[in-house]
Amino acid sequence: MEFSIKASTPEKLKTACLVLPIAGGELGAQGKAVDAAAGGALAKLAKRDLDEKAGSLLAVPLLPGVAAERVLLVSLGKRDEISEKTLRAAFGTVGKWLASNKADSAALCATDCLAGDLALPVVLRSAALLIGDADYRFDAPRAKREPRKTGAAKLEVLLVGKSDRAAAAALAQGAAIASGMALAKDLGNLPANYCTPSYLADTARKLGKQYKFKVEVFDKAAIAKLGMGSFLSVAAGSVEPPRFIVMDYKGGKAKDAPIVLVGKGITFDTGGISLKPGEGMDEMKFDMCGAASVLGTFKAIAEMQLPLNVVGLIPTTENMPSGQATKPGDVVTSMSGLTIEVLNTDAEGRLILCDALTYAERFKPAAVIDIATLTGACIIALGHQVSGLMANDDMLARELMDVGLATGDRAWQMPLFDEYQDQLKSNFADMANIGGRPAGSITAAAFLSRFTKAYKWAHLDIAGTAWKSGAEKGATGRPVPLLTHFLIQRAGA
Ligand code: BES
Ligand code: MN
Ligand code: ZN
Repeated sequence: MEFSIKASTPEKLKTACLVLPIAGGELGAQGKAVDAAAGGALAKLAKRDLDEKAGSLLAVPLLPGVAAERVLLVSLGKRDEISEKTLRAAFGTVGKWLASNKADSAALCATDCLAGDLALPVVLRSAALLIGDADYRFDAPRAKREPRKTGAAKLEVLLVGKSDRAAAAALAQGAAIASGMALAKDLGNLPANYCTPSYLADTARKLGKQYKFKVEVFDKAAIAKLGMGSFLSVAAGSVEPPRFIVMDYKGGKAKDAPIVLVGKGITFDTGGISLKPGEGMDEMKFDMCGAASVLGTFKAIAEMQLPLNVVGLIPTTENMPSGQATKPGDVVTSMSGLTIEVLNTDAEGRLILCDALTYAERFKPAAVIDIATLTGACIIALGHQVSGLMANDDMLARELMDVGLATGDRAWQMPLFDEYQDQLKSNFADMANIGGRPAGSITAAAFLSRFTKAYKWAHLDIAGTAWKSGAEKGATGRPVPLLTHFLIQRAGA
């Protein structure tokens, strides 16, 4: 979907669908102009047929006096209750409507969205993100690929008065985040026989080529040379070779300390010798959604040319059982030198992340954030609404929580008190890789915290938020919005 700002009066614009926001049943300035051209029909219809709840829609075709083929009224809720949240509800349903209807172009009367202290750039970024994201479709491998019959190819934004640089930049940012989410969803949705560690590496290389940032890919021998014995212990049972991907985006000043993003890239998690039960195991193809969110975020920041230095690290492998696989009780040596007793081969995410976190030290980072579908326990604790968040720095945690609350891609902090470390005691190594049933998400983070002492670090457990099960089974693209907004804020852009 293409997004642009267009200087035109709404009633005269030729478009398949003119999207007209309305608050508290009262038309705004742009709405009044359209209503006047239609001889007052629109106000009457809105009053009679449109629900006031934010996100309610009413499509009105062929209004005489109006150039658009249809007007799509969308309710923003009560005027004094308009917020980023109600706007998201409105843009979300508009996006769904456009994606499933035949209108092939659309225009948004954006000025009529403004209320209270909402800034225009915030409105435009949110509109492009939600309407762009709703347009996503997974192109599944099928015998006959059906051509798309619905969806709008472009969205024009109409403003009262002149547009400015900040508005145009925000619109482009929203569009870039949507395209980053689309990449993350595609990678998540692809089955594990397509989306292998090498496929993720090729995706990173292509992004690097397209947007001109450096990408380095380590193969198994190079990973061994780095001393990543913990990472390689997870790859031991797999025929498909592992990869360690390093992306270096330099949008900031050469000497500025980078933000490092580390994504868990298990392209399929069988559990290994500690084999998972069969039911629903297909969903473990989504166990690389942390890696996908890093790739998606890189696409977004590169597309918007964000002035910030960001490093992306992706350890990626399958977790398979075999005659060569790591066994419960095996002791492995991580890149840091710390030894780990692998009591459960299904707690593999932390085993690949710990070596990537040690590797991160060499960048002298401003902060490191890892993103991982790490624990089923996180779904029990927080459900599918919010991501788990743990950190060794409360300011960084607060920053991420606040960005999440503002953008709707929420995360919630859990404690990382020292006492939890006791659960990782081992008689046979520096630590065990599991801490028992109590506080499973926290002990996983406690394990990672032993490898993050050199810098400020936050951990996002996205086990509950990265994909949906059931009829709507599919990747969500989260937490690309959270990460990208965080980076935008850090860049001061
Ligand atoms: N990838 C899983 C976590 C997971 C499970 C995410 C279900 C989403 C849905 C992870 O590798 C795992 O298996 N974790 C174990 C840890 C346990 C063995 C300590 C878990 O959560 O059961
Ligand atoms: Mn596992
Ligand atoms: Zn896993």
